[in-house]
Amino acid sequence: MRALEIPDPELASLVSEAAKLATDYWASLEARPAYPVTSGGETSRLFDRAWPDEGRGRAVLDDFSAIAEHVRPCTGRFFGYVAGSGEAVGAIGDFLASVLNQNSTSWRSAPAAIAIERVVVGWLAEAVGCGGFAGSLCGGGSTANLMGLAIARESLLPANEDGARPGIVYVSEQAHMSIAKAVSLLGLGRNNLRLISVDENFRLRTDALRDAIARDRDAGKTPLAIVASAGTVATGAIDPLRDLAEIAKMEGLWLHVDGAFGVMAALAVPEMFDGLSLADSIALDAHKWLYQPIDCSCLLYRERDAARNAFSHSGDYVKIFNQDPEEVFAFFEESIELTRRFRALKLWMSLQYHGRYAYREAIIRDLRHAQLLDNAVRAHPQLELLAPVPLSAVCFRHRIKNNEAILKRVIARGRVYLSNATIHGRFALRACFVNHRTTPQDVDEIIHEVIAAADELNA
Ligand SMILES: Cc1ncc(COP(=O)(O)O)c(C=O)c1O
Repeated sequence: MRALEIPDPELASLVSEAAKLATDYWASLEARPAYPVTSGGETSRLFDRAWPDEGRGRAVLDDFSAIAEHVRPCTGRFFGYVAGSGEAVGAIGDFLASVLNQNSTSWRSAPAAIAIERVVVGWLAEAVGCGGFAGSLCGGGSTANLMGLAIARESLLPANEDGARPGIVYVSEQAHMSIAKAVSLLGLGRNNLRLISVDENFRLRTDALRDAIARDRDAGKTPLAIVASAGTVATGAIDPLRDLAEIAKMEGLWLHVDGAFGVMAALAVPEMFDGLSLADSIALDAHKWLYQPIDCSCLLYRERDAARNAFSHSGDYVKIFNQDPEEVFAFFEESIELTRRFRALKLWMSLQYHGRYAYREAIIRDLRHAQLLDNAVRAHPQLELLAPVPLSAVCFRHRIKNNEAILKRVIARGRVYLSNATIHGRFALRACFVNHRTTPQDVDEIIHEVIAAADELNA
């Protein structure tokens, strides 16, 4: 037998045992706590093992149930952060992608994987009203934001004599931390991120933006890009995309849209994303509001050549000998990644299995769930809504009790999981709906659990 080879009957039984673990797990989800009640020490001790000299064989599958008890289950009652729910056909697609073990980097290394990725990227672009945009899949919204700003830098910012590239990026003060990280990683310069104030709906104020750009120009600085949020992480606010596109055009700046949380909702409520197609680049996360298993993110760009300009640094070893225009295509020329997972397969399978209407319906249900909670909070005398709810994130608080203590108790009770945000300096309880498993009853549980946790604080 060759090294690492598994005889056929054993392999078949491993695969079917793994499939059984998966289906049993999915069937058990609703009975699981919203978050594992475990201490970090307990979890670390449980899995602290040496790599055995002799293999354990099929017994490794026995670890699955312990692992499943020590991770966040994708139940319909997990409302923290922007945590997608991991659709099952997508998971099967991920498994089959690993079986094929393709390097989705260039046509030569994986023809069908490349063809499929280009098609699914086209579906995503069309779904958000940006048909004709090119793009590539990547691991997360943070990477997509970094790549979007890297393309902006290469397109608009010549290096100065010592190779430095100071360029100013404008975002709302509600923008995700990945933008600050990208500005720092790209060497755009310390202090070159301008946090622009927001209006009462947490949307970037265009008057403040115009002033900031003018001030920077007067000071001899170089504005580079505006990053609009299409769904801020705290409240789901959508910046005024059309106005920002106009300002970007007038000022000769790049417009990148961070749509990691919200942009996929354009499939259901396109009118809320007016102006999105005027962006130069857009980050969106299919592992958030398209319910795909982690990881599955996408950067869309208007000009494929701009992405190539940023990422095409081909070495000899990747030279493509065939000159057929289709076959010279390479994602490594448009992405940070060289070796790339076949992420497109899960999208290909999951989006076709369910169809476009089912996805639109799932997003509409999430939006409705957010409105249900919004109404329930407003109707409850002890609770107060802290921000408008344009998409599916709801920020609220208990009027009297300590909300931080409430949150800890809610999580410890294990029925629902909420996270937090800071709204006008106040601690907010936050529920976010990007979960195809959530039901209206699960939404009711949020109010029930928050009030029960608050009552416990008296005891
Ligand atoms: C608005 C926004 N941008 C970017 C990100 C980062 O995405 P990822 O966690 O996939 O890197 C998030 C994550 O929640 C987000 O909400």
